[in-house]
Amino acid sequence: MTNSNNKHIVIGITGGIAAYKSLSLIRLFKRAGYEVKVAATQHALEFVTPLTVETLSQNKLYTDMFERGHEIDVQHIALAEWADCVIVAPATANCIGKLASGIADDALLTLLLATTKPVFMAPAMNCNMYEHPAVQANLQTLKERGIRFIEAQSGFLACGTEGKGRMEEPERIFETVTRFLEGSDLLKGMKAMVSAGPTYEPIDPVRFIGNHSSGLMGFELAEELARQGAEVTLVSGPTHLTCSNPDIHRVDVKSAQDMYEQCMHYGPEADIIIMAAAVADYTPKEVAPQKIKKHEEGLQLELVKTKDILSTLGHQRHEGQLITGFALETENELENAKGKLQNKNIDIIVLNSMNNPKAGFNKPTNQVTMIDREGQMIQGEAKSKTEVAKEIIQFIIRKLNK
Ligand code: CTP
Repeated sequence: MTNSNNKHIVIGITGGIAAYKSLSLIRLFKRAGYEVKVAATQHALEFVTPLTVETLSQNKLYTDMFERGHEIDVQHIALAEWADCVIVAPATANCIGKLASGIADDALLTLLLATTKPVFMAPAMNCNMYEHPAVQANLQTLKERGIRFIEAQSGFLACGTEGKGRMEEPERIFETVTRFLEGSDLLKGMKAMVSAGPTYEPIDPVRFIGNHSSGLMGFELAEELARQGAEVTLVSGPTHLTCSNPDIHRVDVKSAQDMYEQCMHYGPEADIIIMAAAVADYTPKEVAPQKIKKHEEGLQLELVKTKDILSTLGHQRHEGQLITGFALETENELENAKGKLQNKNIDIIVLNSMNNPKAGFNKPTNQVTMIDREGQMIQGEAKSKTEVAKEIIQFIIRKLNK
């Protein structure tokens, strides 16, 4: 359950078709007990009406910088201070570009320059615009300045094309922001390392052996640890995901060997280690220097075992380290998972349920059972990976006696 504590949210709406979804976002925050004020650009008002926004937010809409007859305060400054958090959803390429350049030619942009509070932006635009180097450079500039991005999704776009640029759903934006606002400093002063995603094992310069891991579970765990105050390094295999928390230190890797090297670099100094990556167990013995040609007789690849990162870290552990691994089993689930706890010398094993269609690889939801060395076992329900990450981190926090 969300604990709003009467927090103040400013929702900025810019002129994209996704603006209709900001109405749901206002409702989600209001329903959870937050105070909401809205600042919209003139173009946004082509998509949503002031009456709808004011009725849903139960507050006056801010659009005009030079409006007379209202509070004496300079409105955008007052609003910037009133906010505990500002969310721009949708954020158009235009708004992102202007903010990156420090332009403040309307009430919303002025507010965005004036605020010192956390700002989230949920981009929404045509996929070619999204990929344009100018937009990518602006996103990078703003990320470096601490803006938290809620990544656009791929799918069918209003302009009739398919691609990346669809605004994240209001429920997910709400979840990301409230998770941030409910954050604590329970894990302050602790270092954490999380691994995520698949690994790609090269066969030749153009081919690899990979797997279907999306990386989402690991990314959610990293976000949750950061929200609880930990200093987080995320070692990620190839994925399209981005971190919304700019404080997470992300290290990108490709192969199991790369992941081993980075985990062995960051792992030993971490107090909390979570290996959520789907690391390949085997890799081609040799990588062909040139693209392998087709042959009538087929192709035999010799595979050799990769290094088990979790087990290496488990056997080199130092006092006070808490190490969590994941297990995916198709038979004798509990027994095999418990075996891994012992064999890899770790503290917690998270068993992914294979029997639930809502759990596992490449899905937004998951269902897990957490088991520790003392025999404590908690079986969770199927829920979003954000919620599952909270569940796992709560289990870890209890083990740390926090
Ligand atoms: N893991 C790892 N290094 C590897 C392979 C797996 O660190 N080379 C980690 C994963 O990140 C995960 C756990 O080990 O936390 C998963 O183990 P899993 O692959 O299920 O078990 P294995 O030990 O590989 O045994 P099996 O595949 O036979 O079940």
